[in-house]
Amino acid sequence: MSVDSQKLSTLMHENRTFPPSDEFRAQANFNDERIYEQAAQDPEAYWSEQALHLSWFKPFENVLKWTPPHAKWFLGGKLNAAYNCVDRHAFGPRKNKAALIWEGEPGDTRVLTYDMLRREVDKAAHALKRLGVQKGDRVSIYLPMIPELPIAMLAAAKIGAIHSVVFAGFSSQSLQQRLEDAKSKVLITADGGWRRGGITPLKANADEALVQTPVEKVVVVQRVGEVAGITMQENRDVYWHELLAESPTTPFEPEPMDSEDVLYLLYTSGTTGKPKGIVHSTGGYLTGANTSMRSVFDIKDSDVWFCTADIGWVTGHTYLVYGPLSAGTTVVMYEGGPDYPTRDRYWQIIEKYGVTVLYTAPTLIRTFMKWGESHPAAHDLSTLRLLGTVGEPINPEAWMWFHQHVGRGTCPIVDTWWQTETGCAMIAPLPGIVPTKPGSATRAVPGIDIDVVDENGESVGFENGGYLVIKKPWPSMLRTVWQDDARYRDTYFGKFEGVYLPGDGAHVDADGYVWILGRIDDVINVSGHRIGTAEVESALVAHPAVAEAAVIGRAHDVKGQAITAFVTVRDGITTDEQLVADLKRTVVEQIGAMARPEEIIFAAELPKTRSAKIMRRLLRDIAEGRVLGDTTTLADPSVVDTLKAQYKDAE
Ligand code: WTA
Repeated sequence: MSVDSQKLSTLMHENRTFPPSDEFRAQANFNDERIYEQAAQDPEAYWSEQALHLSWFKPFENVLKWTPPHAKWFLGGKLNAAYNCVDRHAFGPRKNKAALIWEGEPGDTRVLTYDMLRREVDKAAHALKRLGVQKGDRVSIYLPMIPELPIAMLAAAKIGAIHSVVFAGFSSQSLQQRLEDAKSKVLITADGGWRRGGITPLKANADEALVQTPVEKVVVVQRVGEVAGITMQENRDVYWHELLAESPTTPFEPEPMDSEDVLYLLYTSGTTGKPKGIVHSTGGYLTGANTSMRSVFDIKDSDVWFCTADIGWVTGHTYLVYGPLSAGTTVVMYEGGPDYPTRDRYWQIIEKYGVTVLYTAPTLIRTFMKWGESHPAAHDLSTLRLLGTVGEPINPEAWMWFHQHVGRGTCPIVDTWWQTETGCAMIAPLPGIVPTKPGSATRAVPGIDIDVVDENGESVGFENGGYLVIKKPWPSMLRTVWQDDARYRDTYFGKFEGVYLPGDGAHVDADGYVWILGRIDDVINVSGHRIGTAEVESALVAHPAVAEAAVIGRAHDVKGQAITAFVTVRDGITTDEQLVADLKRTVVEQIGAMARPEEIIFAAELPKTRSAKIMRRLLRDIAEGRVLGDTTTLADPSVVDTLKAQYKDAE
């Protein structure tokens, strides 16, 4: 049985449902079921109504221009994302409301009201402008989870520059690749970042990346101080605090952007080695982010919102910055690890700030389960009223644990399916309307038209697995792949004409609930992070000892999937523990710690089809200890038996 059908059969037996309580329904922003029908009948009317929750300098004239595979939303409209996230609150009744409640890993804290956030963003915008940043320029940001990260993003947005945030866990090589592709003018980084008591050497990594791909200016935030031991390069490097100190205190005039102007790039893994720069627009993206805060997350002015994602990933972009701030929400942002210094850090934070909505990831919930319920039980979590998950399918056991031990059996859970490319949640319950089922993201949100189809693009109906597709354009969809529109067309619209292909398998049950089965392409989901097999493979074959490598994702209790690498070495190389360690280190250096293979299996040969394609499915079967399926297409069937024996030995 393959992974997918195994998952399918467990999931199909899940028939507990959790309807919203009358109390929750009564207070919900969206509590009239007819919204689904109305939005389906006239999605453009629905989205244009939602777009009016933003502040437009000039109203849009045209809701949608769809020339497949390119969509343009809210044409003629002018707006600024930073103005929507900051100024309109700061100059209004939310002036002294907390925008950002930040807690550093060592325990230091900072609270920025909307007015204070506005001042910081404006100082940073003035500073970037002085460095020569213009509308349309790219600004790369390689920062830990500190307030300067959203401030830098919003400052770029205020100028109309395009930000490209690179997750601080990425290596210098990954940073270099992203700087190069984006052709960034400026890099904003920090001397270092705190992580579980240790220091991530961000500036040192940046220096290394900049040897190959120079930028004009590097702005350095002081986070860890002296201990980082960094060197500043004359004429290139400047400290953030010194730069901002020279900025005027006058407000920075937000650049009026066309709705379709690019807001940001965010790189994500695909089936080839080179990460794709996903391009998001201003008006459409912000409309999607803002709408989902009100619909899926039922956000109110009184809420205290805690999203545990890192801003280096799309969840942090949409649900730590653009979604909550555009809605005028108080955002709790935490710098460090969930177990630093103790395993109840998140629960402490929730209790301390009275968090009302918690948005986190299944891999973390499984970790919390392992640590035991005594940790959440030791804290007053009674302010929580809604919980959310994202990143990978949540197994029903983890869902139930989250429901009972964090949600006290009363908070609705919104399991949200979406992607870097979709910009905001696509499949998720509206918590005041849709009864939830543990493990299912339920149904598409209003205005989103999905289906599950076969190879020919025909709907498979209920209870059959197939390709998940999105049939109509939506405001926050990616606009293209940066500098590579052909890749955009091929990857997302190459299989079915005019229909978006996310790359996930799914099935719809008899009640119309969607069950996501995971990726159908060569992308591995490790702890909710997308990692391309090709990226890890090319990191491995770059090592002089390696002849060939095949990388697969195997099921893992906590991470969802873990990386197993099958490697053949060059003649005369000894395959010992030292080499295993070396190869793992090579992957960490080239990509980042999240891509470190869990195990490396040395193989004399890799199983290949007669047309020389590596059969990853067989490797996955071996790694997950399954009876092997059809091996008749193998060029050399004996390879598999040898590998099985080797895998056992390695365990
Ligand atoms: C997976 C993260 C099941 C899926 C926002 C998707 C999920 C990929 C869920 C996108 C979920 C995300 N249930 N699977 N609720 N959420 N995924 O681009 O495979 O980092 O294609 O965006 O994560 O990952 P990305």
